[in-house]
Amino acid sequence: MAIEKVLIVDADVSNCSFLKELLRKRKSEVFIAESGPIALEYLRQHLFDLIISDLQIPGTSGLEILKTVKTQNSQTLVILATAYASIENAVEAMRLGAFNYLLKPFNAETIETMLDKAQAHIDLIQENYYLREEISTQPDRKKQLLIAESETMKKILSDVSKIAKSSSSVFISGESGTGKEVIAHAIHAQSHRSLQTFVKVNCAAIPTTLLESEFFGHEKGAFTGAINKKLGRFELADKGTLLLDEISEIPLELQAKLLRVVQEMEFERVGGIRPIHVNVRLISTSNRSMKEAVEHKLFREDLYYRLNVVPIHIPPLRERKEDILPLAEFFLKRLCGENQKPIKHLSTDAKQKLIQYNWPGNIRELANVIERSVVMNTTDLLEAHQIYVELACSVKEAPSYTLPKGITIAELEKRLILETLTREKNNRTKAAQVLGISIRTLRNKLQVYRDEQSLTLF
Ligand SMILES: Nc1ncnc2c1ncn2[C@@H]1O[C@H](COP(=O)(O)OP(=O)(O)OP(=O)(O)O)[C@@H](O)[C@H]1O
Ligand SMILES: [Mg+2]
Repeated sequence: MAIEKVLIVDADVSNCSFLKELLRKRKSEVFIAESGPIALEYLRQHLFDLIISDLQIPGTSGLEILKTVKTQNSQTLVILATAYASIENAVEAMRLGAFNYLLKPFNAETIETMLDKAQAHIDLIQENYYLREEISTQPDRKKQLLIAESETMKKILSDVSKIAKSSSSVFISGESGTGKEVIAHAIHAQSHRSLQTFVKVNCAAIPTTLLESEFFGHEKGAFTGAINKKLGRFELADKGTLLLDEISEIPLELQAKLLRVVQEMEFERVGGIRPIHVNVRLISTSNRSMKEAVEHKLFREDLYYRLNVVPIHIPPLRERKEDILPLAEFFLKRLCGENQKPIKHLSTDAKQKLIQYNWPGNIRELANVIERSVVMNTTDLLEAHQIYVELACSVKEAPSYTLPKGITIAELEKRLILETLTREKNNRTKAAQVLGISIRTLRNKLQVYRDEQSLTLF
């Protein structure tokens, strides 16, 4: 990301032109204020990435400008300049949050070095902001060990190594819980982009109205609530990898915009006019049949072909039963370690039970079943009756109830949704089908419930 908007506050016109020229070469948009009141007016109207201000300005002082900026937006960098070096001023400037302090007269080399530093700082802030958000919600995928015993999975892992060497767009399909996201991470980790950011956007979890700004970012004031400029995931993933998770869920209107971006790797932020060019490796995933989505005109065929240059299909666990026991043992070992329990083992019957079960929720379900067994049992050997697959996953008849007196429609709806989800082993796609609502509606409702009371179930 460039230093986009810069304000120079200095009464000396030749200084202003000198700085302006250097900044223009970096494609920054430059504003000049020759007095305090003009500077304050600009500050009211714009959000700057960087301000270079003289300490002595008619109508106010550089330190006042600094204070105003910091109360407005703590991320704007301020460099103060002066011809009269004084340690007190420099200390005060740094204490108030100045990024740096420059001595006049300027020379191009010092300014360039300082601009490089400012640039690096702005990049870091943006990246940190994204990573902080992600780290709080994501397990550490970098340390993920992939278990692959079946021929199909071994072939997929060997394909992953080849695919990682290119920058072609990859489309990973497979049922819920089969490991699409971990494969996406593996591709990134083995690619030459591995030191750059891996950015994920869950297309089904973000409300439609916010998706465009989430993808491409927005300028300050682009819409109600856009108080600050925000970088989109495409920009954050520049030089790295962008995972478009559950891509089938994006609305047609946004698909048209995405098509252009995928082709040209260029876009504008919402409310912006400046074209932004990025270099991003795209990985998309879906647990829905894309062929059907295309046939039903829910997904643009031209976009699908662009995203599906290299397809990877991860088969469900029931079609690669050789992976079941190695995965179960892997989860056992990991969970026992985490819970500081001696490593448990599976009896022959328990193993048989795991192999025979058809795992509609795939690896995620297997991990949950093993976790439940570890938590619920103190014995070192887990027997078949201690593997709660039927309990966790039985599709029994719906319980018949008498409705409690005074129950509201909203409460009834909530109960129906949560119960259906449990019955469908947390597979949202299936639950949405059973309920006759779109997966997006389901997700939005779950978000509301989650906000109401922090549910850990999902
Ligand atoms: N080969 C594997 N070895 C070890 N763990 C795995 C493997 N594949 C998947 N997992 C684990 O299974 C769980 C589900 O994987 P992941 O989130 O990648 O699935 P997904 O296909 O993206 O699911 P969804 O469609 O529901 O988003 C994760 O906890 C992941 O770490
Ligand atoms: Mg996933």
